Amino acid sequence: MPIFIVLLGPPGAGKGTQAQRVAKALDIPHISSGDIFRENIKKQTDLGKEANRFITKGELVPDDLTIAMIKERLSRTDCESGALLDGFPRTPAQAEALSKILSEFDGKVNAVPYINVAEHELIERLTGRWTCRAQGHVFHEKFNPPKRAGVCDFDGSELYQRDDDKVETVTRRIKVYLEQTMPLIEYYKKLGILIDINGEQTIDQVTANLLKALEKVK
Ligand code: AP5
Ligand code: MG
Repeated sequence: MPIFIVLLGPPGAGKGTQAQRVAKALDIPHISSGDIFRENIKKQTDLGKEANRFITKGELVPDDLTIAMIKERLSRTDCESGALLDGFPRTPAQAEALSKILSEFDGKVNAVPYINVAEHELIERLTGRWTCRAQGHVFHEKFNPPKRAGVCDFDGSELYQRDDDKVETVTRRIKVYLEQTMPLIEYYKKLGILIDINGEQTIDQVTANLLKALEKVK
């Protein structure tokens, strides 16, 4: 049976950082809706141009566009053994759509780790974040610095600061998260698959907690 994991948490909680490690450990693809949008923006596709209008303001990209994009990604053969979703779903409509898509592949959401971090800490994490151009690897100038400033440890590509990591946009993204994504915590709690993870520990400690919690998941 495939295993599908949804990583939930506010902007800057460490979803991308942890998803890269956990997906590797479980040998399933890491699917980040934000990374796919940024890839489309870089290539200037129609989807990228449309998504960029919302992303630069810190708003969510409309559900229909986002759901179609994830459905296409999940239909690829590398998802036959499952996937680790980072940043999707983000609204109740997306959560409903996801369970429908997965049921078409004889799958379901098996576990939803929720990485919890206080708001003031999120702002510090996002405004100090540096992201790699080639593959979206994530660093922090204070908490997780690259070996050489401005250069990705993993693939040597340039590190940049995301446009939506400015303080004003970060504040808006957190508000949007509280309004539109927080209800998913209750939704998955009711389904009995939510796993609380304390995100205010070192990156290694959070990874260890995630892997331990996911060991039991089938
Ligand atoms: P997206 O790219 O998903 O951004 P996000 O959810 O706001 O989350 P982030 O990527 O900012 O944070 P993260 O939790 O991945 O943290 P990270 O590991 O990088 O989405 C961007 C935009 O796309 C959205 O605003 C929206 O417009 C659109 N979008 C995406 N998905 C959508 C959807 N489903 N529907 C509609 N629109 C959608 O870590 C952050 C920093 O903290 C890093 O510098 C890292 O090094 C550091 N750090 C990580 N862990 C720790 C730790 N334990 N201690 C100290 N520092 C740490
Ligand atoms: Mg991310």
